[in-house]
Order: sequence, then structure tokens, then C-alpha cells
Amino acid sequence: MFRRAEGDAKLKGYSAIRIPKSQMIDLVVLSNGIVVNEPMNQKEPHIIVKDLTMAYGDFVVMRDLSFTVARADVFIIMGGSGCGKSTLLRHMIGLKSPAKGQVFYRDTSFWEAGPVEQDRIMRSFGVLYQSGALWSSMTLAENVALPLEQYTKLNPGGIREIVSFKLSLVGLAGFEDFYPAEISGGMRKRAGLARAMALDPEVLFFDEPSAGLDPISAHRLDDLILELRESLGATVVVVTHELASIFAIGNNSVFLDPETRTQIAQGDPNQLLAESEDPRIHSFLTRGVEKKT
Ligand SMILES: Nc1ncnc2c1ncn2[C@@H]1O[C@H](COP(=O)(O)OP(=O)(O)O)[C@@H](O)[C@H]1O
Ligand SMILES: [Mg+2]
Repeated sequence: MFRRAEGDAKLKGYSAIRIPKSQMIDLVVLSNGIVVNEPMNQKEPHIIVKDLTMAYGDFVVMRDLSFTVARADVFIIMGGSGCGKSTLLRHMIGLKSPAKGQVFYRDTSFWEAGPVEQDRIMRSFGVLYQSGALWSSMTLAENVALPLEQYTKLNPGGIREIVSFKLSLVGLAGFEDFYPAEISGGMRKRAGLARAMALDPEVLFFDEPSAGLDPISAHRLDDLILELRESLGATVVVVTHELASIFAIGNNSVFLDPETRTQIAQGDPNQLLAESEDPRIHSFLTRGVEKKT
């Protein structure tokens, strides 16, 4: 199933056709006329969260979380403020260990793996934190170069080349020598994204990427996330409660409910909106707007 078919088509020279749910397959017509069928159930699992309970000491934030993120999904973690979205992200990026349960990267159970294996998996992640989290005393180029200097043996010339390339991917070619304070909030987010992509991650994680952005910059960031997903083939995991983003970029999701302290829905958010009978999911996905039938 393709969302935003026209947008995708414009970006990549694809056209996509929406088909009935009963025949749930991706049907992509490439620009050379070849039709690619991709049955939903044949997507390769990339991240599997299994029976996860998350807690701070005795305080259980969420329990019994189980879901699968497929390769190249744009997976949304959604739910109201304070329900545990960022906490779930921290479990998925290796920053917080589960009270119970597992997080698998393909066949490897992250929290049961040794430090070398954990390090290898974590290197395949790119993370964009809420503020963009750039060093204010460093230029954009220096910020993006940091992970390359830390984790690779590239020489300065090679690093400079990659830095310029990553900045150009996010529309910041020519801004190498600017400091974070000299550019707009939207540009800072994009620079943070260039840094998150420095090591060619297999998975990009975002915590509330559009927080603090005006709607146009937020929309641009969404487009950029989709473009990068397409061109890099990366899997994307996004924490957000922005409805516009959820429907525009998400093809899979989990919904966390603070009352029951567990997940109460998962799947394509557009499909959840169309088909879920649960009033909690409905009111979240419509925010008081009546369901259109
Ligand atoms: N470091 C921490 N220590 C104790 N409790 C925390 C910590 N971080 C978050 N919490 C609590 O865990 C719950 C979930 O927080 P969080 O994951 O940040 O929610 P969300 O991202 O959905 O807004 C909240 O009740 C919050 O107060
Ligand atoms: Mg949060």
C-alpha cells in the first residue's frame, strides 16, 4: 500500500496505485514500466520488540509490548504525552535495558548480546534528538565530521568530502562553515539529520523531529525523511504525535495507551484511522475531528 502516491511519484519517478485492503500488496510501477509486487507478509523483519516491559525502578511505564518493524518501514511510535514513547526509543537504541523482554535486530537479541556485538549494532543507528543537539561552538561541517573522526580511519580530505555530501543531501550545501546559531531551526534539524547519517546508518531514529518547527519546515522535514528512506534504503523509527506527519510518512506504527500501560494498536496509521473501532485510537487520530466515512 502506498501513501502519498503523488508525492512519492514526483520524488522518485515512481507511480503507485492504491488497491483494496483485501489484496494488500505493494504495487509499484517503476518509470521503465516494470511492475513490482511486494506482498506485505514478505517484508524482511528488521527490529523485533518482544514481550517488552519498561520500568524506572519500581515504576512500570509500559508492559507487554510486542511488534515488528520491517526493513525500510517508516515506523511511528505514537501516544499521548508522558506515556513512554521516548522511553521505548531508548530501549530500541541501546540506551536503556528492559525490565523484561527482548529487542532483536534481525536474529540478534540486543540485550543478550556481548559488548562487541552491541557496539556493532549501535553503529548501524543514526539518532536525531529533539533539539538537533548540535555543538554550538562548532561549525556544521565540524558537527557532521565528529562521528566520522570518532569511528572511522578516514583522512581529513575524505571526511571533508563525506561531510559536504551529507550536508548536500539535506539541502545545506554551502553551509559548511556556518555555526548553528547562524541558521534557522529547520536548518538546524536538517544539519542534525546530516550528522545522524554520517556513518550511513541502517536505522534512523527520530524523537519528535518536527517539535518547534513551523508547519512548512515540518513538512519539508517529512519529505526529507521519505526521500532519505528511499535513497538510502534505511529503516526509520519516529516518535511523534503530529497527525500530519503520522499520516504522511508512517506505514506502520504502535500506539501506546497510558491507562492500560500497554500497546492497544499497531499497523498502518491510515488503516487504523479507517478501520479501528477503538474510541481511544479514534480520538487520538482525529483529535476531536469527526470521522469521515
Ligand atoms: N529517567 C527517568 N526516571 C524516572 N522516570 C522517568 C524517567 N524518564 C521518564 N520517566 C517517566 O516515564 C514516563 C514516560 O516518559 P517518556 O518516555 O519521556 O514519555 P513520552 O516520551 O511519551 O512523553 C513518564 O511518566 C516520565 O515521567
Ligand atoms: Mg518524549
